[in-house]
Amino acid sequence: MRNITDKIYYAGAQADGGFLFENQYEVPNGVTYNSYVIMDEKTAVLDTADAKVGEQWLLNLKEILSGKRPDYLVVSHMEPDHAANIGTFLKEFPQAVVVANQKTFDILACYFDIDFSGRSLIVKEGDTLGLGGHTLQFFMAPMVHWPEVMVSYEQKEKILFSADAFGNFGKTSDIFLAAGKEEEWSKDAARYFLNIVGKYGKPVQQLLKKAQGLDIRMICPLHGPVLRENLSFFLDKYDAWSNYRADKAGVLVLSASIYGNTDTAGAYLVQCIQEKGVPAKHMALAGTDLSYAVAEAFRYQTIVFACATYDGGLFPCMEDLLYRLSSKNFQNRNVALVENGSWGPMAAGKMKAELEKLSGIEFIGQTVTVKGAVQEADRVKLAELARAVAAV
Ligand code: FEO
Repeated sequence: MRNITDKIYYAGAQADGGFLFENQYEVPNGVTYNSYVIMDEKTAVLDTADAKVGEQWLLNLKEILSGKRPDYLVVSHMEPDHAANIGTFLKEFPQAVVVANQKTFDILACYFDIDFSGRSLIVKEGDTLGLGGHTLQFFMAPMVHWPEVMVSYEQKEKILFSADAFGNFGKTSDIFLAAGKEEEWSKDAARYFLNIVGKYGKPVQQLLKKAQGLDIRMICPLHGPVLRENLSFFLDKYDAWSNYRADKAGVLVLSASIYGNTDTAGAYLVQCIQEKGVPAKHMALAGTDLSYAVAEAFRYQTIVFACATYDGGLFPCMEDLLYRLSSKNFQNRNVALVENGSWGPMAAGKMKAELEKLSGIEFIGQTVTVKGAVQEADRVKLAELARAVAAV
């Protein structure tokens, strides 16, 4: 049995890696699907879990309940990674009342053919649900990350059940994030947030404003560890990420290379930038999960895009990356360009055309054109570009 507090329990379950989260994101360290139970005069279960961990989640839940019948199922988000077991729950516990907003009930009908007459409680912004000593208060968080999302604040123990917000990839050995592990948390939390919720910066800002009005002692998200130390760190990260503000110093160089020559240009550029005392990171895109590059692009203020020309256009992994950045509202960055092409280099123009569609993009330095392998003359031009981006 895993306690969050004396009366609040963790019923979540973990999936090993080796699959794609949302059928698109690599999760080498697996994923947790969190679910919580408040045991008071009334018993409330907060969210179910993904189908792939449904059996374990139900076992955990029954162990916590120890024969008690739950009074409520609070549904904060209808995405199937949390809602897949609502039908199972209601079969097991037919007396339980589903607590959700109207939009959630609308979406429930898209996934379950269930008659909710007599077992639904529709809640609105600020409504409360008394459980005895504990009281849940509900706040709507539309588009963090679906339109029906709401978070719950438990007033007595000052716990925010934050739905997808403050979630993370990866299994956890402890329910709680250990003290001092904040930076480590931020690596995959950024990849999780920026790829999945990144498009919805304004709604996240609205949720953060609501959170400012609450005295929060602990954050219980639907994925990843529970956060209870140094909460300002996590709130600050979410403020930066949802405002499309960089939170890492230095320059990121992203290269899309067919035979390795454009990657060589990217690596040399990074070396030149570092020699000027400026942090720089190189990521080769081909053959990788682009969610890592999306997250890093949002975390740096200055990004160099280096791409081989392919079929008169962009090498596909760069084209895909630019599409993803655009779809996530990438904005307000300094960018520089490097292209490669032995007989008809066209990648820089194509990248520029895509980046110009975004807001607040400033082009810096002289675009470098490499024709095939990186030669001495190219190194001179790359060193010049390094001076320009390092000086920003
Ligand atoms: Fe973890 Fe939007 O679901």
